[in-house]
Amino acid sequence: MKIDGIHYRSLWLNEDGVSISIFDQTKLPFLVEIITLSNVSEVEYAIRHMQVRGAPLIGAVAAYGLAIAMNEDPGDDNLYLAYKTLVSTRPTAINLKWALDRLRTELTSLPPERRKDIAYQTAGIIADEDVTFCKEIGRHGKAIIQSLYEKKGIGDTVNILTHCNAGWLATVDWGTALAPIYMAHDEGIKVHVWVDETRPRNQGSLTAFELGAHGIEHTLIADNAGGHLMQHGLVDMCIVGSDRTTARGDVCNKVGTYLKALAAKTHHIPFYVALPSSTIDFEIWDGLHDIPIEKRSPDEVSRVFGIGPQGKPGWVDILPEGTPCENYAFDVTPAEFVTGLITERGTCRPLAKDLKALFSDLVP
Ligand code: MRU
Repeated sequence: MKIDGIHYRSLWLNEDGVSISIFDQTKLPFLVEIITLSNVSEVEYAIRHMQVRGAPLIGAVAAYGLAIAMNEDPGDDNLYLAYKTLVSTRPTAINLKWALDRLRTELTSLPPERRKDIAYQTAGIIADEDVTFCKEIGRHGKAIIQSLYEKKGIGDTVNILTHCNAGWLATVDWGTALAPIYMAHDEGIKVHVWVDETRPRNQGSLTAFELGAHGIEHTLIADNAGGHLMQHGLVDMCIVGSDRTTARGDVCNKVGTYLKALAAKTHHIPFYVALPSSTIDFEIWDGLHDIPIEKRSPDEVSRVFGIGPQGKPGWVDILPEGTPCENYAFDVTPAEFVTGLITERGTCRPLAKDLKALFSDLVP
């Protein structure tokens, strides 16, 4: 997608054929800063500290991280070490493990001298596949927005609520939850997006940044405002992303998603989850029980990052020192609260049999 009219992906391989570049998402939307990752420690740091974030993007970046490791030393020990280092960076999003497992399986069957080239090739395929999947999600999701648009009466705006950032910055391009919105807008459907702020890391600011750059009408709201908007008929549908989807269709996404799904169900508002197959974990069934929920530093709750009065970016304490805080990064929305799963192969009900029918080749 575009920044200042120039098309970017959220990561790319540099001309040296070894290092990758990313946008430092800890600085966005205040500063657009591109950084280069040239070794495994830099990749590990970038994922752990959320310079890159969003389930599909961390999967693709981790895949390149393993390729970078193979450039440094393609031996078995280094392959094992780099895999272990990268897979532990963020526990909830399954794409990370999915991408690393895919690469490791391929690499272990090869002699070390062939590993570097194949690793870069496969990382490139994973990144390209993500773009294709997100475009397809966009196409299928756009059809849903279009039918709402036609139902409301052509010319009337469709109001969509989203949580966190599931746009192009969270994937390699297009996004998951935002791809249908981009496509609807590009085809002349009038959309307006309610963007949840998404405390504590304020990923809503990234969503607002993306939508603004694309010329899409949007309004950032405090996290707790969604229920009020739904009560007053100001939300026509919700679309969010997923970091892990279970075999029966439970979804795990940024903390706060569940509360929006509860409110949507009460108000009979369709609640869609957009996801590429790389977020489906067919090995688990019960999301509440089986998905590890990442707990991050309490400092993310007790401080906010922003621009100070002198125009300088920085952190501000919002609580007295020593206030006890907890920082649960994700929550699980059980399948019963989800209207439909928008995938690259079409939209299905959040039911094991529907997911299995759509992805029979991926079920272990
Ligand atoms: O902690 P983050 O910012 O990595 O969390 C991101 C989300 O929760 C997204 O909604 C999810 O990864 C789906 S992205 C396409």
